[in-house]
Amino acid sequence: MLLLDKIKNKFRLKYRKKRWPGLINAYKQHLPVSSKTPIITLNEGNTPLILSESLSKLIGNGTSVYLKYDGLNPTGSFKDRGMTMAISKAKEEGSEAVICASTGNTSAAAAAYASRGGLKSYVLIPDGFVAQGKLAQALMYGAEIISIKGNFDRALEIVRELSSKYPIDLVNSVNPYRIQGQKTAAFEIIDDLGKSPDWLCIPMGNAGNITAYWLGFNEYKKLKKNLKLPLMMGFQSEGSAPLVKNIVVKNPETIATAIRIGNPVNREKAKIVKKESKGDFQSVTDEEIIYAYKILANEGVFCEPASAASVAGLIKNKNRIQKESTIVCVLTGNGLKDPDCAIKNNDAIFRKNIEPSLKDISTILGY
Ligand code: F0G
Repeated sequence: MLLLDKIKNKFRLKYRKKRWPGLINAYKQHLPVSSKTPIITLNEGNTPLILSESLSKLIGNGTSVYLKYDGLNPTGSFKDRGMTMAISKAKEEGSEAVICASTGNTSAAAAAYASRGGLKSYVLIPDGFVAQGKLAQALMYGAEIISIKGNFDRALEIVRELSSKYPIDLVNSVNPYRIQGQKTAAFEIIDDLGKSPDWLCIPMGNAGNITAYWLGFNEYKKLKKNLKLPLMMGFQSEGSAPLVKNIVVKNPETIATAIRIGNPVNREKAKIVKKESKGDFQSVTDEEIIYAYKILANEGVFCEPASAASVAGLIKNKNRIQKESTIVCVLTGNGLKDPDCAIKNNDAIFRKNIEPSLKDISTILGY
């Protein structure tokens, strides 16, 4: 190695940031952990806050739209934030098994963290309504999977009952440690922006995540004087909008299977978030979700359909946004989770069965 290269390398190593230790270690002082807590981590958190040029332009009026891309967590969704806490605490309390109901992402995260911590995991999923990538993950991470002929809401009722009767820890978002872990996303946004956004746009299913963000923003406000709180804008799919309509939806339907939930367990908490933040809950159609999904992908950000609901909601409110606002849309899950949706809903030119001939391909390319 040349001397100059050696010097450059030394300089780079010296100024490279320290390895991210995972969110529990990073935000320990804000979390219910002690020196006795065995920290089960996959170095989750610290996900990028991406400035979206195209959405900022589309909204206009000097607005900056950022994407909190939580699909870059270790299992590809925000659930890792809650699961590192839930599994660490389950392990601390001597638990040997955990259980959850899931539309897919919770099951993937529960299975991954349980295996990492040496715990057994059981997951109940609605048969036929879990995206392929998520199912593949749960299978690979080593969960025992029970696919029921019923929807998520029924699966959750069953696991709640099972965990109250038998020595199995429930790791759905009724588990308070899940919310504690998930609130760190709000800390990261404030740490990155140096302030709160004016609006936070977020998809809602069981409404655990919106509850967690609100908790995080409020906790930081106590520590940082002059911090403003954002308006919390929660979005659901039109066919699965129990919080928007204030009803129980018996047979929820949407392309965004992650948020195909008709009776959210955190309903009352979500209502408080809406009221306290002066925010709003609105629904978006599957078409609006797919439109937003494509806009994001066109800028290089691939999220799953449920996550695109936050952006679909933002676009719907274009005329309500004040000049020079800062907006964060939460992208809860990675697009790779649901390859079927992407393959069915894209505008790509995909030519098949082409002869491997230089001449033919040059012609296709227009040369
Ligand atoms: N986005 C994605 C990608 C999700 O997987 C979920 C929930 C949500 C948004 C909604 O979050 O429930 O806290 O309001 N998925 C759960 C699951 C239900 O089982 O993976 P929420």
